Amino acid sequence: MSIAMAGEDLLGRLIADGTVSRPSGSAPETLWTQRFAQRTQHITASMIRELLKLTEQPDIISFAGGLPAPDVFPVEEVRAATERVLRDRGTTALQYTTTEGYRPLRELLARHMSRYGVEVRPENVLVTSGSQQALDLIGKLLINPGDRVLTEAPTYLGALQAFNAYQADYLPVPIDDDGMDVDALEKQLRGGPKFVYALPNFQNPAGVTLSLERRRRLVGHAAHYGTPVVEDDPYGQLRYEGDHLPSLVELDAETHGCANGERRDAMLRALDRHAPLGVRWTRPGGGLFLWTTLPDGFDTLKLLDEAIAAKVAFVPGAAFYPCGGGERTMRLNFSYAAPDVIEEGIKRLCRVIERGGKKE
Ligand SMILES: Cc1ncc(COP(=O)(O)O)c(C=O)c1O
Repeated sequence: MSIAMAGEDLLGRLIADGTVSRPSGSAPETLWTQRFAQRTQHITASMIRELLKLTEQPDIISFAGGLPAPDVFPVEEVRAATERVLRDRGTTALQYTTTEGYRPLRELLARHMSRYGVEVRPENVLVTSGSQQALDLIGKLLINPGDRVLTEAPTYLGALQAFNAYQADYLPVPIDDDGMDVDALEKQLRGGPKFVYALPNFQNPAGVTLSLERRRRLVGHAAHYGTPVVEDDPYGQLRYEGDHLPSLVELDAETHGCANGERRDAMLRALDRHAPLGVRWTRPGGGLFLWTTLPDGFDTLKLLDEAIAAKVAFVPGAAFYPCGGGERTMRLNFSYAAPDVIEEGIKRLCRVIERGGKKE
């Protein structure tokens, strides 16, 4: 049995399956093949689908397909939930909704993901019909004919089918018991893939899991080469032993927290350069804020008006004292603005401080 059956073979199968009917009285195959879009030449039939047909025969002990055990399907729970939705929100449930999907569902999914350390807002969630549809959308969005996709070898067949339809080429990376070989990955990244397709948990088909150390290196290499990573994780929550490992997206967010280190440094440098004599500030080892203390006589609450007029903002420190005090302090956030904006903002703020703001 061949894995790939393109073009005429595919047509034959579709006709044999009854998926496509033969136009009456015509020389059918040529008629149909002329009508199929060119991209269908790249749509391949699935060996898994063929094997799944075998699993329908009762005398076969099948280790072939990826079917979950039917006795654990939450049939009752799904029935009760469906009944409740139809009873309480029937017209909403059956009505069209936004392309992204029903907002309360996206809110729930965002909350669920944050339990696994993935911080997303509902705006970042798009509901699809299975992850296969998401893989197809990713292919549609990112792959031009001949673009290379970096994948594990072996990797998930359904992803190859989705990407093949958009005429992807591949940069394969071997795997071992700890998942993707990250040294080989680094070499392949130099080949300029459009994106990395990674299966970090209980990989399909090999079942291996990417070690924490390799996850960090993968995220670091991908960031270094500016290559996006598509993380496909259908099995991460189906762990039977050991500890949950952080997802690639979570580790990437940590790396951006280093980005905050860059911004902290930008603010410290800008203060060193522009702050007038007598102004002091903390040098935080992490977090989002630093604390600035102005010389005696300043009132940062009063200073705020002038700062706003100069188009720069901070929080006056008095707000943070439970029993008063802190009039000459202010909190500065360094994580939000980009480094060059921080430089400009600190310059403006320091000019305002120089000009006055002193108590009468
Ligand atoms: C790695 C991987 N991604 C995606 C899928 C497809 O998931 P869905 O059924 O949600 O389309 C599977 C299913 O086997 C899979 O193993």
